[in-house]
Amino acid sequence: MLKNMSIRKRIMVILAVVYIFSMVAVIGIGYSLLQRDTEREAAEKTELFISSMLANQQYMAKFVRPDLKELTKDVYFPEASVGAVMLVKTAKLLQEQYPEYILRVSSPNPLNQENLSTSFEERIIAGFDNGDYKKWQGFTTRNGKSFYAAAVPIKVRKGCIWCHDTPEVAHPDMVAEYGDTSGYGYEEGDIVGTRIVYVPTDATKALAMTKLAYLGGTVSLLFLIALIVIDRIIIRSVVKPIENIVDVAGDISRGKMDRSFDVDTNDEIKLLADAFNRMKVSLEKAINILKR
Ligand code: HEC
Repeated sequence: MLKNMSIRKRIMVILAVVYIFSMVAVIGIGYSLLQRDTEREAAEKTELFISSMLANQQYMAKFVRPDLKELTKDVYFPEASVGAVMLVKTAKLLQEQYPEYILRVSSPNPLNQENLSTSFEERIIAGFDNGDYKKWQGFTTRNGKSFYAAAVPIKVRKGCIWCHDTPEVAHPDMVAEYGDTSGYGYEEGDIVGTRIVYVPTDATKALAMTKLAYLGGTVSLLFLIALIVIDRIIIRSVVKPIENIVDVAGDISRGKMDRSFDVDTNDEIKLLADAFNRMKVSLEKAINILKR
């Protein structure tokens, strides 16, 4: 197919094919690099979020809870002593500032039904339970929006039991607030839930797509400029000189011996023109011999 095309067309077709392959490569490689970027950025954010929440919890366990036990023996005040309660409440405060971020203390068997795990969270908790992983992170969607999520398991310790064992054992105020049907039956060592952070990725993904579009646009522009420049060069240094040679050869074949093959470059076309000029001289000599 290429053989039947003019040189100019042939080079344009080849350039177009190179362009298509380059675009596929640029978009493919760019996409995977940006995807990695998005994931790294989201992972850093979730990491930061979880760490600050954990630091809060550690603060409570280290500096508040021990003294509180001394000061307020047997008083039911979970806001100051229970990690899960503090996490749920601070998460709500945080969400006022960052409404798109979600932090959940989720359990398939919760005291507070707001903490009931979704089917996605339930699968992750089951994975923790089966020992498939120690923590989970990856992309997911929630209410049609895309998020990067990071989850760690919540394991029952001895100190949890008195509230989460049976409604009879738990503090009556707690049972009055949360009821006696869900959130009980914990046993030491059980995985009862997950602490999970969702960081939105729609905005970062859109940004990545914009970057990709700019990259594709730049490559296309460069190719277009290259195409125009190469086309000019081909016309000037190949097409025109050859057309000129064809024209002169036509005239000479019709007997106009005063014409000669002139090329102002110093390349293969020049060699061709020189060869034609030598041929013309020989031709003239032969004609002169014949005439005589
Ligand atoms: C003083 C009682 C108390 C203790 C001790 C306690 N919790 Fe809770 N826990 C609660 C209350 C109250 C909630 C409900 C918080 C809310 O309103 O969202 C809760 C919520 C949770 C939740 C979220 C799901 C749900 O039930 O709403 C998990 C998971 C949880 N606790 C696990 C634990 C673990 C693990 C421990 C031990 C490290 C523990 N709890 C110790 C009272 C307690």
